[in-house]
Amino acid sequence: MTILVTGGAGFIGSNFIFYWLDKHPEDKVICLDKLTYAGNLSTLRPVMDSPSFKFVKGDICDKKLVFELFKNERPEYVVNFAAESHVDRSITGPEVFLQTNYMGTATLLEACREFGVGRYHQVSTDEVYGDLPLDRPDLFFTEDSPLHTSSPYSASKAAADLLVQSYVRTFGAPATISRCSNNYGPYQFPEKFIPLMVINALNDEPLPVYGDGLNVRDWLFVEDHCRAIELILRGGRVGEIYNIGGHNEWRNIDVVRLVLQELNRPESLVQYVSDRKGHDRRYAIDPEKIRDELGWLPQTGFEGGLKRTLRWYLDNRPWWRDIVSGEYREYYQKMYGGR
Ligand SMILES: NC(=O)c1ccc[n+]([C@@H]2O[C@H](COP(=O)([O-])OP(=O)(O)OC[C@H]3O[C@@H](n4cnc5c(N)ncnc54)[C@H](O)[C@@H]3O)[C@@H](O)[C@H]2O)c1
Repeated sequence: MTILVTGGAGFIGSNFIFYWLDKHPEDKVICLDKLTYAGNLSTLRPVMDSPSFKFVKGDICDKKLVFELFKNERPEYVVNFAAESHVDRSITGPEVFLQTNYMGTATLLEACREFGVGRYHQVSTDEVYGDLPLDRPDLFFTEDSPLHTSSPYSASKAAADLLVQSYVRTFGAPATISRCSNNYGPYQFPEKFIPLMVINALNDEPLPVYGDGLNVRDWLFVEDHCRAIELILRGGRVGEIYNIGGHNEWRNIDVVRLVLQELNRPESLVQYVSDRKGHDRRYAIDPEKIRDELGWLPQTGFEGGLKRTLRWYLDNRPWWRDIVSGEYREYYQKMYGGR
């Protein structure tokens, strides 16, 4: 069986490739990735020489390349992780988000229509639901919550979800969608919240916390996300949306405190900075549907998962040092310098 994983040189996609090859070494995994700033070929080093793995550098918006790939490889499953994924970057430059997240999805769906696949899975996000108020801890996002996007990033993801649903309805595409809460784990790009805090703490640099630090996120260990996607591919109902989240809500400032405590760094490193525009207050997923239909439950508790993640960043300094010493420095200055 051949599975095409787009965006597999990024954070979740690479973890999914490791997960899949570990569990199904008999399958062939093809990774299609453009290697944007967020894609890192060195991440895939552990599988690069495996006969079960093939890397193709390319853009999911490139119809000629995508069609050629489908024609030659005939993937049975397609899992689309490829995306521009950072909210802050979508505020400073929305266009590429619309291009990759929407048009890229459109290109993949067309290829599926042309060549036929067993399953197409769209990896989406809980951010399509907008946010929940902090004073209503009884509210959670369900699959029926209205789409209510706050950033160009979430709007581009919501648009792609609607396109996937239209392909199911109009063309009978065998597609599913998952909307996951915030992931953490190894190989996450340093601009994202947890690695940013970990790396700054390790470098004894200030930890920039947006606004009052009270925004709430529902954290999930990346491997639990990968397992959920496999369950959906194998047993999820075509045309359905599955929310993925583990009832693990944390205020940002409390995550920062935990990181500092684990790394033995003082709380004086915390530096409050002006808030992100349109910053969502609270995300919280109701995972009842995936639990009841597919038997999915998260297996990694937050404190254990965070310890594993910190250990990974401690043991893999060259991986993130290479990133933070390059063009990322310029981005960091733009985002947080003088804020
Ligand atoms: N990180 C999270 O917490 C989270 C939570 C829920 C959903 N998601 C979704 O999961 C997916 C993966 O997220 P991530 O955090 O791993 O992102 P990431 O930014 O770490 O990785 C994205 C990957 O996509 C590649 N890519 C970008 N544009 C491309 C294009 N046009 N063609 C081919 N490849 C391209 C990049 O090179 C990179 O390897 C995204 O769709 C995101 O919306 C992420």
